[in-house]
Amino acid sequence: ADYNKSVEDRLTAVCEFLKSSVDYYNWVGFYFRNGDKEELKLSSFAGEPTDHTIIPFGKGICGQVAVSNKNFVVPDVKAQDNYIACSINVKSEIVVPLFLKGENIGQIDIDSHAVDPFSEEDERFLEFVNEKVAEIL
Ligand code: SME
Repeated sequence: ADYNKSVEDRLTAVCEFLKSSVDYYNWVGFYFRNGDKEELKLSSFAGEPTDHTIIPFGKGICGQVAVSNKNFVVPDVKAQDNYIACSINVKSEIVVPLFLKGENIGQIDIDSHAVDPFSEEDERFLEFVNEKVAEIL
């Protein structure tokens, strides 16, 4: 085993595991608050590279979750006005905040090519994933 894996490598492994385990998880990534700035920065991800590596608080689904501290499930991205498109193939999205010692420090973001695939089961599962990830940060 490689005990020297960096946090980023471990998060990449989590992203790849999730993407390959669930057929409607087509892009999986972690965004974290960028230092003291009011913006998110893309960390590890699995799937197509995105141009949106920096997202200001309040912008898009991710930026809204950074300020709301709440899960955001988007069954159909076409119905959202405050949305940042990363790929024309993406139809839906789920963003779940990641808390460290009660503070919203980032989020897991999942894009899907399916319309309305996300259930409360995904929300509970991704909350659990984020709790586990917080333990290795
Ligand atoms: N769609 C997101 C931007 C990030 S990409 O999905 C990777 C949003 O609206 O915040």
